[in-house]
Order: sequence, then C-alpha cells, then structure tokens
Amino acid sequence: MRVLVTGGCGFIGHHLVSRWTTARPADTLLVLDLLTYAGDASRLGAHADLLVGDVADPSATRAAFDRLGRVDTVIHLAAESHVDRSLVDPARFVLTNVLGTQVLLDTARERGVGRFLHVSTDEVYGSVDEGAVSEAAAFRPGSPYAASKAAGDLLVQAAHNTWRIPTVVARPANTFGSGQFPEKLLPVLARAAVAGHPLPLYGDGLHQRDWLAVEDLCEALMLLVDRASEGTVWNIPGAGVRTNRSVAEAICRAAGISTALIRSVADRPGHDRRYAIDGSALRALGFHASRSLDAALPGLVAEARTASG
Ligand SMILES: NC(=O)c1ccc[n+]([C@@H]2O[C@H](COP(=O)([O-])OP(=O)(O)OC[C@H]3O[C@@H](n4cnc5c(N)ncnc54)[C@H](O)[C@@H]3O)[C@@H](O)[C@H]2O)c1
Repeated sequence: MRVLVTGGCGFIGHHLVSRWTTARPADTLLVLDLLTYAGDASRLGAHADLLVGDVADPSATRAAFDRLGRVDTVIHLAAESHVDRSLVDPARFVLTNVLGTQVLLDTARERGVGRFLHVSTDEVYGSVDEGAVSEAAAFRPGSPYAASKAAGDLLVQAAHNTWRIPTVVARPANTFGSGQFPEKLLPVLARAAVAGHPLPLYGDGLHQRDWLAVEDLCEALMLLVDRASEGTVWNIPGAGVRTNRSVAEAICRAAGISTALIRSVADRPGHDRRYAIDGSALRALGFHASRSLDAALPGLVAEARTASG
C-alpha cells in the first residue's frame, strides 16, 4: 500500500507512522508536513520519506501525490491543533484546517485515491452537558480551533456526497502519549510538577475530558483504514471522562509532590465544560481503548524530567 500521511511530524502523526511501518513493513509512506513549531522531522527516523510543504498549497499536495506515484490511502492529520493559539490567531487555523483540507480533497479528486481518512476531533460537538453524543449529533464548536475542524470535517463529508471521494472521518477524544508539544495540558502539568512549580489549572479545574492513549488511537485509525465503509464517520473515545483537576492530582502523585501546588488560573474565554462521545459504533467494529491515563503518567512524568534536564 502507498500511504500519504499529512502532519506526520506532529504528536499523533509520528506515532502513527512508526506503528504503521512496524506493523506493515511492505507499505511505502510519505509524510507531507510544513514543519511548523509543532512538527519535528527528526522523529520520523527511517520510517517514512518527508516532503516539506503546506497542505493549503496545491503545488505541494500535487507534488506529494506525484512523489508516491499512486496513492492508496491518505491520512489527513495536518492541522493547527492548540485551542489557546486559536484565540490569538484564528485565521491561521482557517487556512490550515479549512482551506488545507479542501486543497487536499481537490488533489485527491484530481489524481484519485483509494481511501481518504480525515482526522477530525470530538471538539466539533462542543460542550456536552450530560451523557455522550453519537456521530449523528449536531456540531456546536466552542472555539475557533473546533470551528475550523468542524468546517474541515463537513468539507470531507461534502466531498464524499458530491464526488464520491472514498472518505472516512474519525473524531478522536483528547489524546495523551509521549512526544506531545509542551504547550498541551499534560506536558504543562508534568513539567511544572517535576520542577516543583505551581501546576496551573484553568478556572475551577472541573472541566471534563475523555483521555485516549495515542497507541489506542493509532490502532483505531488503522482499523478504520481497513474496515470502515466509505462515507462513514466514527467517534474514537478514550478510557473514561474525568476532570482536569483529577488529572493534575494524579500527576502530583506520579511526581511525588503535594497536590497543594495545584493553582487555579483565570479561565480561557469560552472554555468547553465537558466532552463525551459515544463509541459504540467503533466498539462494534472491534475497537477497545485498552490503555489508561493513570498507567501512562509515570512515563509522562519521566519524560518531563528528561526534558527539564
Ligand atoms: N492531540 C489531540 O488530543 C487530538 C485529539 C483529537 C483530534 N486531533 C487531531 O489530530 C491531528 C493531529 O494532532 P496532533 O496533536 O498530532 O497535532 P500537532 O500540533 O502535534 O501536529 C500537527 C502537525 O501538522 C503539521 N502542520 C501544521 N500545519 C500544516 C500545514 N499547513 N501543512 C502541512 N503540515 C502542517 C505540523 O508541522 C505538525 O507536524 C489534528 O488534525 C488534530 O486536530 C488531535
């Protein structure tokens, strides 16, 4: 199989590339990545070729298709991914997450593709007061990041409806694992904890997130490439919903420090209170999120210690 992975130098992308090439050594992978602040080419190692370029630039997406010759599968991960940054520079998110997705779809239509797996997010549903939302729930994005991902998600569905591009959409929960850019919640808390600094928590810290291990996410994405019918949409839930405060407390325990270091800071404007997605469809396809956040925390704390020198 010949596979184009956009954003393969980012957090999820580099895990996916490494797991894919280990499991399927006969496949050829090409990564298209702009190497923004969040991309690190050295993480690819010998797992895949890299083409440095912008998904919103048709000459770059065409060059990627040309380099592979024939593209059996596109896995579209490239995005601006940090909600806080989207409050400062929303237009950048529209360029990459909306225009970039459409340009990639245009190239896939022009050149042909066997499968187009788009990685969206559970944040497109916005805050979920109670229960868990299915894939049919309405979009109520609460941040410029989520709104730009919602627009990209809808463009992918429209491309299937209009041109029968063989798309599949994945909507994963908050993902944890090694190698996440240090601006994200878990590395921020882990680095503060190992330095003995206050652990900053937005507002009352009772915002709830469902945490999904990056290894489980990669397995789910590979399952969808293999088994999902075209034109379908899939939630990818984690192992359970919990508050940010309980995550901060667990990080303190893993680092061997007092939870008294947890400090409330001014909340982010428009901060979604709770994300919760129903994963019954994906479970019926054979997926089970088997890795817990608690089991991963000692490793994430050790990574923060190494990064802090
Ligand atoms: N991390 C999560 O918790 C999570 C949860 C659900 C969905 N997602 C989605 O998964 C995908 C990957 O997330 P991540 O956490 O690995 O993000 P990341 O920010 O770690 O990596 C993004 C990658 O995309 C590249 N990139 C950015 N703009 C680009 C452009 N214009 N052209 C080409 N490459 C570009 C960056 O250089 C980087 O390598 C994103 O689409 C994100 O919305 C992430």
